[in-house]
Amino acid sequence: MNGPEIGRRVVLQRFAQALALGAGTGALPSRPSRGAAPEAAVDVRLGEPIGTIKPALYSQFAEHIGGVIYDGIWVGPDSKIPNVDGVRRALVEHVKQLGKIVIRWPGGCFADKYHWRDGIGPRALRPRRFGRWREETETNQFGTHEFIRFCRLCGTEPYLAANIGTGTAEEFQQWVEYCNAPAGATTLADERVANGDREPFGVHYWGVGNESWGCGGKFTPEDYCREYRRFTEWVPGYNVPLYLIAAGPNGNDVDWTRRFFQKWADYARAPIQGWAPHYYCGTTGHALKFTTDQWYEMFHKALKMESLIADQWRTLGEFDKEHHIKLVIDEWGTWHPEGTEINKRHLFEQMGCLRDALVAALTLDTFNRHADKVDMANIAQLVNNLQSLFLADGDRFVATPNFHVFAMYRPHHGAQAVRLEVESAEVSFQAAGRAAAIPRVAGSASRQGKALTLTLVHTHASEPVEVTIRLRDGAAAAVQQTVLTHESLNAHNTFELPEVVTPKSTVTDLKGATFVCKLPAASVTRLDVRLV
Ligand code: AHR
Repeated sequence: MNGPEIGRRVVLQRFAQALALGAGTGALPSRPSRGAAPEAAVDVRLGEPIGTIKPALYSQFAEHIGGVIYDGIWVGPDSKIPNVDGVRRALVEHVKQLGKIVIRWPGGCFADKYHWRDGIGPRALRPRRFGRWREETETNQFGTHEFIRFCRLCGTEPYLAANIGTGTAEEFQQWVEYCNAPAGATTLADERVANGDREPFGVHYWGVGNESWGCGGKFTPEDYCREYRRFTEWVPGYNVPLYLIAAGPNGNDVDWTRRFFQKWADYARAPIQGWAPHYYCGTTGHALKFTTDQWYEMFHKALKMESLIADQWRTLGEFDKEHHIKLVIDEWGTWHPEGTEINKRHLFEQMGCLRDALVAALTLDTFNRHADKVDMANIAQLVNNLQSLFLADGDRFVATPNFHVFAMYRPHHGAQAVRLEVESAEVSFQAAGRAAAIPRVAGSASRQGKALTLTLVHTHASEPVEVTIRLRDGAAAAVQQTVLTHESLNAHNTFELPEVVTPKSTVTDLKGATFVCKLPAASVTRLDVRLV
């Protein structure tokens, strides 16, 4: 479960029995308080840098599916819902708070049936097609120009996923040219200008296929590699360095990765900058009704991101010894069965609660700890879908607890990740009739000059924990603590009650090279440490 990068994890035996009794009782979410808080220790190795945390680790994914684009992002310029050029204004205001992230579009599975020319030109004249999902009509009102406008309004970068499943290599190359060629250079560039955008879109990130083992064509890794090479054999750059992303495996399927790269090495080393596995934490339960065992089980699944990164990285290294190719986890998140959607049209929409927020935090901490290996990660999906940051329906809009985690982690953007070692007891629980365990405390740390950001997730469902923080090679002059928690494990924000789960900050009197910090049960904590 935990790779070496988590650091030395010592289980403190003296707490093991109490935890075994206190955890995984199978009861519905509730938080009885019990006895004195046991300890954990965190060593922050300020002198051991890992790599710069790219803001792109906090990226998003927006697909033409259910309510993500239509209703979530696009309401249309004539709508009564406050909008900027047709894009929901409340969403723009919130996405701006996420920093200089990347947004992946138009899919997902949708990308492999999407023909970009359907989404350009006067909106009234655009063709209507069957959508990829449920065969709803895709009106193409939101196309390339609208997406780029959305990204620019939010201060984010676009990532376009090209159609390899039902499209052609030429169609892909022409999309790149349409987006990136300077005005006047080619007929396609002039068509872009005629459609309203003189300035090239300067799209850097391009996905070449999506889930090619599944909805993206059901290829074998070898066949996908052949197609990938054909699509990328010649792609116009137009002064924009292209970052090409190949579709990786379903979860941590090392065999898929090895077979693809074996073919890649034998056949021709087509340009690849990013390798994109997808990993979802699925449940058979319910987004809001779960037992404490299911609470822990979800984190057990989330923590598998650690071994996914380690295994995929090692496999890439067999073929790309200097590691020019980085990981791009361009779909990740929780996936609960239907039942909590706010609008039945919003396929895969789920109500994100405190449990999802902790999954987000555990996963983002994992990415931070691997800042040298992961170039980008995109939670699925931005709005009205799986582990969404926002829910919107008509004129109603709410930020989920997931959003607050992303906002809390913002100080990590652009900072230097430093090594963290966590010692804590494990929490034991039952998953599918078998005993399992997860660490009580996990986290990540980063430094920017005198500012140290430490984020910690405390997974225990009912007891607080006291953590001794030891700063190696440094000392704290001041510490501010921001906490996201709630006494109900399934607490969530609704249109009617939008601030049930929101972070609270306090200025502490903690200081020095060693200090003790209390983490509530079921919480995400950020410590903003001003170093001496
Ligand atoms: O995020 C929903 C779907 O999940 C995406 O379209 C697909 O790539 C994945 O299987």
